Amino acid sequence: MTSKPVVVETVRELKALTSAFRSEKARIALVPTMGALHAGHMALVRRAQEVAEKVVVSIFVNPTQFGPTEDFSRYPRTFDADFEKLSELGADAIYAPDAAEMYPRGFSTRITMSGPADGLESDFRPQFFAGVATVVGKLFIRCAPDFAAFGEKDYQQLKVVTRLSKDLDLGVEIVPVPTTREPDGLALSSRNAYLSAEERAIAPVIYTALKSAALNIRGGATPVDAAQKAADTITAKGLKVDYVAARHAETLAPLSGAEGEPIRLLAAAWLGGTRLIDNIGV
Ligand code: PAF
Repeated sequence: MTSKPVVVETVRELKALTSAFRSEKARIALVPTMGALHAGHMALVRRAQEVAEKVVVSIFVNPTQFGPTEDFSRYPRTFDADFEKLSELGADAIYAPDAAEMYPRGFSTRITMSGPADGLESDFRPQFFAGVATVVGKLFIRCAPDFAAFGEKDYQQLKVVTRLSKDLDLGVEIVPVPTTREPDGLALSSRNAYLSAEERAIAPVIYTALKSAALNIRGGATPVDAAQKAADTITAKGLKVDYVAARHAETLAPLSGAEGEPIRLLAAAWLGGTRLIDNIGV
């Protein structure tokens, strides 16, 4: 399907557009992105199209979720290619505000979260979830969608925004979408573009180590031992591990050891100058 999405840049235009959608009795699904769209984002848009009549994709590289030494300035910005991909999919609208539109002069509010935001990414990127929760909260309020699609690739983020929508009564149903992977298992990410050919060949080790850890847990290994073994495997390939952890799959709290507790394995590691994350269910 090819039909050009409407591009809106201001909150006023966005509200006019979403009111028009609502007056047609259409349900709206939002797909929040930072652009540099790849097949993983396309899967989010397709899932959004299954649950709602109108799909709005936001494209905004959100400065508040990047730390001072992180890759905000080199994060890929590929609007024209993104527009073409969304046209091919038949997305209805793109919301592409600039930083002044999102954070006008004097902006002084930050949404900080605990619960699923505690630990893991927060131990290494302390600004990250306040930045994500603040911008996602603003996107939800501006767009007032019925649904929002988020990838399981960013599993902790998925749990954080689910909690955010509940806690602030934002009324947005979060639709989780499974991770899209390359044939060798590497999870798709806009940051994969930073990898050299040599690094790209090594990168799937995170996924293969997590898969072995899940098998080991199913076979009776303790989650702590299985996670440590996965960390050792990843380190042996030359990556610098931030964490490999087994957590409660819903709350992301440390495991209690209760029988039948749902477990998620999550990992983050540096491959050269690129930080990769991945996770799987056990
Ligand atoms: O996952 C992302 O691309 C970003 O964290 C999000 C949800 C668009 C917020 O900036």
